[in-house]
Amino acid sequence: MSDQIINYINKTPKAELHLHIEGSLEPELMFKLSKRNKVEIPFKSVEEIKSAYNFTNLDSFLKIYYEGSKVLIHEEDFFDLTWEYILRCKEDNIVHTEIFFDPQSHLVRGISFDKIINGIDKALRKAEKEFNISSKIIMCFLRHLDEDSCFEVLKEACKYKDKIIGVGLDSSEKGNPPTKFKSLFEKAMEEGFLTVAHAGEEGPPEYIWDSINLLKVKRIDHGVQCLRDEKLVNRLKKDQIPLTVCPLSNVKLCVFEKLENHNLKQMLDKGLRAMVNSDDPAYFGGYLNKNLIDTANALNLELNHVKILIKNSFKSSFLDEKTKNEWLKKIN
Ligand code: ADE
Ligand code: ZN
Repeated sequence: MSDQIINYINKTPKAELHLHIEGSLEPELMFKLSKRNKVEIPFKSVEEIKSAYNFTNLDSFLKIYYEGSKVLIHEEDFFDLTWEYILRCKEDNIVHTEIFFDPQSHLVRGISFDKIINGIDKALRKAEKEFNISSKIIMCFLRHLDEDSCFEVLKEACKYKDKIIGVGLDSSEKGNPPTKFKSLFEKAMEEGFLTVAHAGEEGPPEYIWDSINLLKVKRIDHGVQCLRDEKLVNRLKKDQIPLTVCPLSNVKLCVFEKLENHNLKQMLDKGLRAMVNSDDPAYFGGYLNKNLIDTANALNLELNHVKILIKNSFKSSFLDEKTKNEWLKKIN
């Protein structure tokens, strides 16, 4: 791949729209927090943590991901976690980020909602002030849990409408279809939250259809299974529904055997509004620029493909139109 493309990726301002803050917990910080908070983790060293990151599918990853999250106890921990991610944003020239958090995985351990949201929010405010990095927060519902638990956490989120812009749906996809959350998302929208959902990561195209039609999502997270359904591709293209694709994640979770087999280039060639994101970078081997560079390399992307991916990230963001256009102009 040409140095021109690598330089372009490194130097161009970018937005990231699919990042689980708990998935940015690096083994070093996990180990440090386990000691600081006296929380036992099933690993004796940072090396041992790293060598456990061999996943066979989404569920095999989620088991370790929820286990790792247990070291997060105090507001300060959520601050440190978020600040470490912000430093990576600065390194990768990410100027706008929209981050997911999974409150239900912390509430069950007795951590209060305000500690989680305030820790994250304080780090994001500092990022804005010190680095001019803008951000939005999206609260995800864990789809393996029942609707009652999700309604409870939605009630909490309603107290923080000034900090949380939208709600999403993550965790174990297969067997937990969007239909299960129709009334929850209706209520969330009534309360003024924007909606997104993980769909078609491992699950069938039908889950993407239902996310669009029932959950009224503004973006589909992943969506890589859409190419199995031509009618769906036409709909995604016609309405330019954003697909927040995460290539390194897809390979780590065995959605594609290798990066060379990823369908991102096909998505772009079909006129879909896809862009690249890092998902859970501490677990999947790379932040945004590595995702872009490795993918461009594996799929022989041209500079124009990369430009489209980066532009799509701003176009699909929840920034106001004026700010979006300012970034798009700068990129052009
Ligand atoms: N939670 C964290 N990462 C996830 C992913 N890739 N899919 C679904 N849920 C998640
Ligand atoms: Zn995700």
